[in-house]
Amino acid sequence: MPEPSAVRPPLLRLSTILSALSYALDLTEGHPRGHSARSCLIGMRLAEVLGLPPAERSDLFYALLMKDAGCSSNAARVYQLFGGDDRIAKHALWLRDWRKVREQAAYVLECVEPQGRVIDRLKKLAGLALAGSANRRQVFEVRCDRGADIAHAMGFTPATAAAIRSMDEHWDGGGLPAGLRGEAIPLLARIVGIAQVAEIFGSQGGPDAASRVVRERRGTWFAPELVSAFAEVQRDTALWAWFGPEAADRADLDEAVGGVEPQDRVIAGDDARLDAIAAAFAWVIDAKSPYTYQHSERVAEAAVAIGSALGLDGAAVRELRWAALLHDIGKLSVPNRILDKAGTLTADEWEVIRLHPYYTYRILERVPVFGALAFDASAHHERMDGRGYYRNLTADGLSRRARILAVADVFDALAADRPYRKGMPPERVGAILREESGPGLCPDCVGAALDVSDALWARRLDA
Ligand SMILES: [Fe+2]
Ligand SMILES: [Fe+2]
Repeated sequence: MPEPSAVRPPLLRLSTILSALSYALDLTEGHPRGHSARSCLIGMRLAEVLGLPPAERSDLFYALLMKDAGCSSNAARVYQLFGGDDRIAKHALWLRDWRKVREQAAYVLECVEPQGRVIDRLKKLAGLALAGSANRRQVFEVRCDRGADIAHAMGFTPATAAAIRSMDEHWDGGGLPAGLRGEAIPLLARIVGIAQVAEIFGSQGGPDAASRVVRERRGTWFAPELVSAFAEVQRDTALWAWFGPEAADRADLDEAVGGVEPQDRVIAGDDARLDAIAAAFAWVIDAKSPYTYQHSERVAEAAVAIGSALGLDGAAVRELRWAALLHDIGKLSVPNRILDKAGTLTADEWEVIRLHPYYTYRILERVPVFGALAFDASAHHERMDGRGYYRNLTADGLSRRARILAVADVFDALAADRPYRKGMPPERVGAILREESGPGLCPDCVGAALDVSDALWARRLDA
């Protein structure tokens, strides 16, 4: 089966690529689909009302789209603290004014081990009571710092990274992680802060609900002049048409986001940018669980080595690398209670795991350029004899790219530590690959993997 090549439109905008990819961040943070994109629409409208110049609006635009790039980095910690589903716990935090003691107590009771035994709940509650504010700070700090670092690595400006780092600071100094106050919080961070809260409440109850929360938090969370300017945002009926149950599935949401980028500052999505974006999202994916640390990067390394050994040309190798870096993006939909589980998974938990390639497909299919790789990237758990998942494809349905990804994924999965076992030594990994060659994995790709395995192991040991 031939693999489709990623076709570049005449002007490929970075903004539409990131808008589409931001759905993966929404999934991780437990927000409704399209949260980041709609936060971007709100924040950019507010910037327009405030009369920000194009350069600042460009910095703001990318801060709004990538504000949750650090969201996966605290998922394992949130699960450790609360148990249950880290995505539900994260979203629930945004629905409360967590600075109020009564709201904190209600939140903790709602989110701590909701399905757990009473004794486990009591233990976790006691732990949280002892270290409440330190834990909160840590959870926010990891998310903001990591997000800022990722924005920086993607090539965005220091102002964009600074806006992400300080987006959860509050006007009166009661925010996190640094407790900055007033003008010490960068203006762009203040706008991101108000936009994300307005989106969450706007998604639930429309412009009136968003405006009510913004007004309630005037002078505490939000700067008074931004709250005043928000009144005009509230009246923008075209903007609020993007809210509501079916709006997130509208394919033109990403184009609408592209439309609010300052038009004289459009950044093109050339190959170098796409390399940086795929690598940055690989970090987001791998940060979700301590057990997937560097997995996507290593699968990409293995896939590139196998592809090169099979004689793929430069363009095909580049696309293979993007597909490998993004193959597990659907894992952002899996709660850490399942990803990090040391014991045997239940049938229901397995079902959730089996769906992660489906989410890889759903996320990537709408992304320009990467959309052409969606099918192969989401086929990395398929097997030649139809035993794989989630489509139960057989050899006829698997392109060479999909077959290479499957071998590269198995190679790293066997070599790496897992919650339930240590990483396997080279001889054992080689033996399993040979056993699976034919019925499970493509023999040509396994042969190429064995040819390059010494170099791959040497790199692993160097790292
Ligand atoms: Fe996977
Ligand atoms: Fe994987």
